[in-house]
Amino acid sequence: MQASSLTDAAPATPSLDERKQEYRNAMARLGAAVNIVTTDGPGGLAGFAATAVCSVTDSPPTLLVCLNRGSSAYPAVNANRVLCVNTLERGHEELSRLFGGKTPVHERFEGASWSLLETGSPVLDDALISLDCRVKAISDGGTHDILICDVVAIRENEGGQALIYFDRRYHAI
Ligand SMILES: Cc1cc2nc3c(=O)[nH]c(=O)nc-3n(C[C@H](O)[C@H](O)[C@H](O)COP(=O)(O)O)c2cc1C
Repeated sequence: MQASSLTDAAPATPSLDERKQEYRNAMARLGAAVNIVTTDGPGGLAGFAATAVCSVTDSPPTLLVCLNRGSSAYPAVNANRVLCVNTLERGHEELSRLFGGKTPVHERFEGASWSLLETGSPVLDDALISLDCRVKAISDGGTHDILICDVVAIRENEGGQALIYFDRRYHAI
């Protein structure tokens, strides 16, 4: 009897799925800028929507991007070792959905106008900022690779409002 009530009082250990869902719900509250990360080169053209983009240091200018190893863009980024981070502005929700869904790669790029800076990765003409990069190191993040990137060229469009993903919805600030 006593043993049974002790067992009843023990806190239930959450399952891996429950911990994952709790973490996903928490991350939904961590607002982040939405970017389209592109690449082109011998490994082919690719692009995906990404919020896991972060500055590392300005000496020298370095940022990181987390890329899902199972995504369609992974083989191209891994082979090209170049990418461009294009930060979206208000009004780019549809572009984010296009690059964040299962649309074939060429249809994704038909939705906007692109040019080039240094690496050959597509630069979104009306992005808030575009950061053209060479991948200099890759760390193992489990399901994702953490790409440490040298920023080799920057293009800025004056004005505009940022597109933020927060609470599983888009917001302009
Ligand atoms: C708002 C948003 C943010 C995303 N952030 C990332 C990210 O940081 N890294 C990543 O690998 N995928 C991210 N994704 C998912 C990719 O965009 C998605 O895997 C891909 O474009 C669709 O899968 P596919 O290219 O394999 O067809 C995000 C998607 C959305 C809609």
